[in-house]
Amino acid sequence: MKSTFIIYRYNPTVDKEAHYQEFTVDAGPTDKIVDCLNKIRWEQDPTLAFRASCVHGICGSDAMVINSRVDLACQKLVRDYKTGNNFVVEPLPFFDVIKDLVVDLEPFFDRHRSVRPHLINDREPPDRERLQDSETQQSFEPALRCILCASCTSSCPINRANPNYLGPAALLRAFRYIYDSRDSATEERLTQLDNDEGVWGCKSMWWCTDVCPKGIPVTKCLGQIKRLLKQREKNK
Ligand code: FES
Repeated sequence: MKSTFIIYRYNPTVDKEAHYQEFTVDAGPTDKIVDCLNKIRWEQDPTLAFRASCVHGICGSDAMVINSRVDLACQKLVRDYKTGNNFVVEPLPFFDVIKDLVVDLEPFFDRHRSVRPHLINDREPPDRERLQDSETQQSFEPALRCILCASCTSSCPINRANPNYLGPAALLRAFRYIYDSRDSATEERLTQLDNDEGVWGCKSMWWCTDVCPKGIPVTKCLGQIKRLLKQREKNK
């Protein structure tokens, strides 16, 4: 079965501006989109640039826009699309393009780092590990599924309006530690998020939740942080 792929191309060393290039590929209904991109690269144009490391929905490196929707190319099959055998593939929006489908994710990871994405605990360590009951663990379990693919942050319209907004992925990581009973920096974390660049920048548009390839209820998690902040305000 022949499929047509119209792919965004941009090589800053030779192109003045981006353009689209059409390729025809033999692809079965159960082929992944990333398989088709690999076929193009291996058989037709070795200069086509895209990231794909694990090809099993684990590493998050192949988030891209496929037929106008952000998806992981390794999680989507040809038969998942109702556009016949026609595909338009573009890089993640919001981030600068380095080459073709590869974008510069450094601003994304800067924001992620800014929420201190690690356990902070200044209490005396116990003899063995810091224990946690399963109910507490379940309260932030959805956030543990995040693979930092940047699908949510690149899709969120608030990022364009408010360039300093931390974005859903960084806020979700903060949520993960705020609800982790082993972390002792809850107050500092909440204070960091209590403004328009933090969680109040979120206008609950649900785009992040809609595109998350891991089914994480991102908007709901951010809503929980907002409720905590309101409760904290009341208790002052
Ligand atoms: S290649 Fe790793 S998530 Fe798709």
